[in-house]
Amino acid sequence: MSKYEITGGNALYGEYAVQRAKNSALTIMSASILTRGEVTIKNCPKIADVITLSKIMRKLGAIVEWDGDDLNLDVKNIYTTRVNEKLSEQLRASLFLVGPLLARFKTVSFARPGGCAIGSRPIDIHIDGFKRLGAVMGGDDERINFFATRLTGARIRLKYPSVGATENIMSCAALADGETVIENCAREPEVVDLQNFLNACGARIVGAGSGVIRVYGVEKLVGGVTYEPIFDRIECGSLLLTVLSTGGKVTLKGVNAQIICNLLEKISNNTCKVTVYNDRIYINSSSRPCGFGNVVTAPYPLFPTDLHPQLIACACSGEGKTVLTETVFDRRFAYVDQLKKFGANVRVDGSDVSVEGGRLFGAEVFATDLRGGMALVIGALSANGRSVVHGVEHIERGYSNLHKKLGALGAQIKLIH
Ligand code: UD1
Repeated sequence: MSKYEITGGNALYGEYAVQRAKNSALTIMSASILTRGEVTIKNCPKIADVITLSKIMRKLGAIVEWDGDDLNLDVKNIYTTRVNEKLSEQLRASLFLVGPLLARFKTVSFARPGGCAIGSRPIDIHIDGFKRLGAVMGGDDERINFFATRLTGARIRLKYPSVGATENIMSCAALADGETVIENCAREPEVVDLQNFLNACGARIVGAGSGVIRVYGVEKLVGGVTYEPIFDRIECGSLLLTVLSTGGKVTLKGVNAQIICNLLEKISNNTCKVTVYNDRIYINSSSRPCGFGNVVTAPYPLFPTDLHPQLIACACSGEGKTVLTETVFDRRFAYVDQLKKFGANVRVDGSDVSVEGGRLFGAEVFATDLRGGMALVIGALSANGRSVVHGVEHIERGYSNLHKKLGALGAQIKLIH
């Protein structure tokens, strides 16, 4: 178990290099299986989820090795399609292996996946998609098995634009016979990133980023590809909300502001000044944030659920009212009771979180999920006095070297194992 010791109240100054997207890296690692060759993920984030997925892939027979900041995958000699259950309990993204394994080997066996405790998180949309492509399902309460003699393109309308299901079905359909049309699909930038990666390996996919994706199945995908994922828009957003909360002047490097225009609009209407220049965002925050008014989380391009807890933490440290309605996950509120320990005036009512801004004071708090954990770091950095944030393992699932990167901006934050 690790914890952060944080002394709050410092404004942050300097440059912050944003990592490549966690949610792209995980799907691209999984989709590399389709190539039967070698793939390099350039500047792959060194986060716990990537490390765990690497371990799961090694157990399948893949060679996964770091070369500096790049991750090399060699998937030629995968010899089993049984995904390790112990490791998948730690990582919902292990589910992304299912589509590629099924497409390449026509069989796969996996345990029901774990991940952040933020909602019921069923996998029915994934399952329905595989069945529509011609796979047959078996198994029991603990494991699910799929097999197919042949996968055939189909018209698949998702009942909800699930990011993971869109990516899984798209990867699986890449090697199916004929054309697959995925309707009501997720439009997230990471779906576009996966399409670009698969096309770089020889797939024929169009439409990612819109509500309809067309996959024209090909016989094989080829390796030998080096691919750099897009920037991590959630890390970028987390940092913008941190600086809005603590005050300071920070330049975020390596980003595409267009992709996070929804958040930029919200913070530009707040107390800070935001300027965009090429791949940089400058934020200058000299007074406490004011309330955000009404915010609703929803699939891209609307406000992302993965920035919900961080926005609430920021609102708690400022002045005025914020009401956020969570529409994507049904149990993303565990962090709220922890924020109250800082003295925050925040409460949950159904799927609404309401905040009346105020002053925060140092406290001992416990992270129970990734983004909720980041919210506690924001609370601690903007609180007066000393705080301890337990459960850093949750935060390290998605942020690489957070304490070092924040420390370089002048935050007083120490990681204790
Ligand atoms: C991905 C992201 C996660 C983000 C989420 C929503 C990765 C690794 N994770 O998660 O960070 O918070 O998108 O932007 O990319 N649902 C079903 N049935 C299904 C699948 C999903 O009902 O088969 C529901 C979920 O319970 C949830 C909603 O759909 O309420 C959104 O989930 P989904 O978009 O699938 O999220 P993930 O792909 O798991």
